[in-house]
Amino acid sequence: MKLTFIGTGYVGLVTGACMAELGHTVICADIDAKKINGLKRGVMPIYELGLDELVEKNVKKGRLSFTTNIGKAIKEAEVVFSAVGTPEDKKTGKANLEYVYAVAEAFAKNLNGYKILVNKSTVPVGTADQCRAKIITTCKPGALFDVVSNPEFLREGAAIKDFLNPDRVVVGTATEQAREVMEKIYRPIARAGRPVIMTDIRSAELIKYASNAFLATKISFINEIANFCELIGANVKEVARGMGSDARIGSRFLYAGSGYGGSCFPKDVQALIETGKEYDFDFQIVQAVDEVNDAQKMRPYQILKRELKSLKGKRVAVWGLSFKPRTDDVREAPALYVIQALLKAGATVVAYDPVASEAFARSLDDKKVHYGTDAYEILEDADALVIMTEWDEFRTADYAIISKAMKGNLIVDGRNIFERSEAEEAGFHYFGIGV
Ligand code: NAD
Ligand code: UGA
Repeated sequence: MKLTFIGTGYVGLVTGACMAELGHTVICADIDAKKINGLKRGVMPIYELGLDELVEKNVKKGRLSFTTNIGKAIKEAEVVFSAVGTPEDKKTGKANLEYVYAVAEAFAKNLNGYKILVNKSTVPVGTADQCRAKIITTCKPGALFDVVSNPEFLREGAAIKDFLNPDRVVVGTATEQAREVMEKIYRPIARAGRPVIMTDIRSAELIKYASNAFLATKISFINEIANFCELIGANVKEVARGMGSDARIGSRFLYAGSGYGGSCFPKDVQALIETGKEYDFDFQIVQAVDEVNDAQKMRPYQILKRELKSLKGKRVAVWGLSFKPRTDDVREAPALYVIQALLKAGATVVAYDPVASEAFARSLDDKKVHYGTDAYEILEDADALVIMTEWDEFRTADYAIISKAMKGNLIVDGRNIFERSEAEEAGFHYFGIGV
């Protein structure tokens, strides 16, 4: 089928390329000319494993193309996926829907026969209805269209695998015609044995927020248990192993650490709370999840402050800047919060990340941090090492080299990647999160 993706960011680019891989003819459109020009030359705007090969292959096969001409891209498509950003409005905590509505307007202006607008972005319940209302006021009278909700569940760093082998696809439709078209689009996924859940639009919209809020809840829950473990002398890794073995609980998303970050959980948790308020509904659990996470992000800082007494003039080496491994995305990364607090307290910060240093430097907008190109090099004369992202290369680090380079012997492991016994044997003063 002929599909257009509007918004060629993480989701639009990955899902567009994957849809081409499934055999559809896909146009990826974006208002960002720099991004589109780069993609035309084969330059990926994001770091995602396997994406460049997937894009190159499908461009060569003539199934994938890029444009800034949004109107033409809509006219040429049978189905238009909207994958623009829905960032948090920092003043209200709500999802900012201006880009979503801009796409609805462009869709309405370029309707040239029955078409479907699919909201792939994460949008609050009721947004599809709002889009429909906006399209009706803008398009020619009698124009035929449908609006569908098809939230995306991929994770950064595993995006292609997640899209092509999803636990489920969720599609919310209001008409039989839209449902049939969506079933056809996802037929290859259904044939591969993956569930394609057809439901109503509002349920589909809420499934996305409920899923993210539930995963965030698992994380905040295990982080609270971790903090309690520290008080009672238990080990959260053991507790999580014991809990996770119960199939009803499951072992995934039970890793304690410095809290969740990224472009999704923080903003989606916040947006769900705000949507609740619009209906006079108080999301008590979700509110607590958010508060626990805010505090958890600062745990490494608090341990550093407690152990180093004064941070003024201390040299702190930071391993890991991205919000999780295998991505250069630093949005809401816990490292941002910890480093800002360290700088404010007068510490000198030297940092290393395998891929995210540039993005982090842009995001922090503070020239005081020194970014190294080697994990060991930044340890020279450091009073403490703090680990903020669990990159594989840190897991296999050599204690002897760390020890030789550092001036102090304090390690704060914000992702629990080291074994306490090994670190202590190597002479370190070691603190993890609940271990
Ligand atoms: P992103 O910021 O990476 O990309 C959004 C793109 O939309 C940008 O390239 C921007 O230039 C473009 N854009 C904005 N307005 C436009 C317009 N009017 N016309 C054309 N292009 C326009 O965002 P993202 O991370 O891909 O997220 C998109 C949506 O998907 C969000 O709602 C997010 O919550 C959701 N989501 C993201 C992920 C993820 O892992 N990043 C996973 C699941 C769902
Ligand atoms: C998350 C969801 O996992 C995706 O299903 C969803 O599509 C996406 O949000 C979205 O809506 O955009 P993502 O943000 O890419 O994906 O990353 P995750 O792997 O979920 O990790 C999120 C954060 O939680 C990271 O900071 C990670 O370090 C943290 N985390 C995760 C933990 O602290 N403990 C865990 O056990 C798991």
